[in-house]
Amino acid sequence: MIWLIGNRGMLGTELSLVLEKQGLACMGTDREIDITQPNALTFFAERQAVTGVPINWIINCAAYTAVDKAEDDGENCYRLNTEGAGNIAVCAKRIGARMIHLSTDYVFNGCGVKDTSGAIRPYREDDETDPIGVYGRTKRDGERAVQENTSDVYIIRTAWLYGKYGNNFVHTMLRLMKERDTVTVVDDQRGSPTWAFDLAHTITAFIIASEAGKTIPFGIYHFSNEGNMSWFDFAREIYDEGRNLGLLTDGCTVKPCTSAEFPARVKRPAYSVLDKSKIKDTLGITIPFWKESLSIYLHTLVKGAI
Ligand SMILES: NC(=O)c1ccc[n+]([C@@H]2O[C@H](COP(=O)([O-])OP(=O)(O)OC[C@H]3O[C@@H](n4cnc5c(N)ncnc54)[C@H](OP(=O)(O)O)[C@@H]3O)[C@@H](O)[C@H]2O)c1
Repeated sequence: MIWLIGNRGMLGTELSLVLEKQGLACMGTDREIDITQPNALTFFAERQAVTGVPINWIINCAAYTAVDKAEDDGENCYRLNTEGAGNIAVCAKRIGARMIHLSTDYVFNGCGVKDTSGAIRPYREDDETDPIGVYGRTKRDGERAVQENTSDVYIIRTAWLYGKYGNNFVHTMLRLMKERDTVTVVDDQRGSPTWAFDLAHTITAFIIASEAGKTIPFGIYHFSNEGNMSWFDFAREIYDEGRNLGLLTDGCTVKPCTSAEFPARVKRPAYSVLDKSKIKDTLGITIPFWKESLSIYLHTLVKGAI
């Protein structure tokens, strides 16, 4: 049995549907089993054990994800992203379950790492972490808390997540592009978007491969869609494809700007492209390019269904 924690968030909702479609037995909880309360976690897991269908996987999609708000709410952010993650790992170890934990590109400082030719290369799993904000710091410390408490854990760092079931950049852009004549978007932060649907399939791939007896080493893995671009490029593609599909009926100018021209409460990594070689080699998967996935996603909005 899989216990999906945070099953009503953006990724958690998508993942619960994918697990069901794959025929994987799963039960989900969200705020009703508070991850900051270790006893609540243990009580739930041990009660499940006596039913005869014990939990053998725990997936943690619960988190404090309001990046700007976190700057003024550090204590709550830490309680969820660091202590909460650690509590789940303690529970997983106690009941003998394997764990999958979600983390973020925000664990890096966004300055990039240079390859031997001096060019900036995508971040690898073992590159040094150096978060620049409260959210990133609590997530990095969450990774540590998890690994200190269980060895049987896959940590998947992802980035720029969007999907049907939560507030995200794609939804915000579509709304603003309907409301305004001009939308201005930063052009000096590079990364790779991730469609929650693609990530959900990859998470299930860890479980399916492990259950089939394949050796998938525990540790940290990076996942996003392929390709990289700026937020401005992403917005322009949303606009172009949104117009093609009739999701946007009126014209809107998408203008680039610098981060300095677009003040935000928190500094965001300027470069957060993730190297995905490890996850591709280990699971033997091909990852869709960001434009393909975005296009399929926008088509689902036209049809009104996934
Ligand atoms: N979103 C992104 O762009 C992004 C990028 C990189 C990595 N990630 C990581 O990916 C994972 C999933 O992100 P997401 O965007 O799907 O998150 P999300 O939509 O914010 O979902 C998080 C869920 O956790 C729940 N939750 C909050 N406090 C809880 C508690 N004390 N106990 C149990 N559940 C609680 C939330 O409930 P409420 O809604 O009621 O608060 C929500 O349903 C997270 O680990 C995140 O750090 C996200």
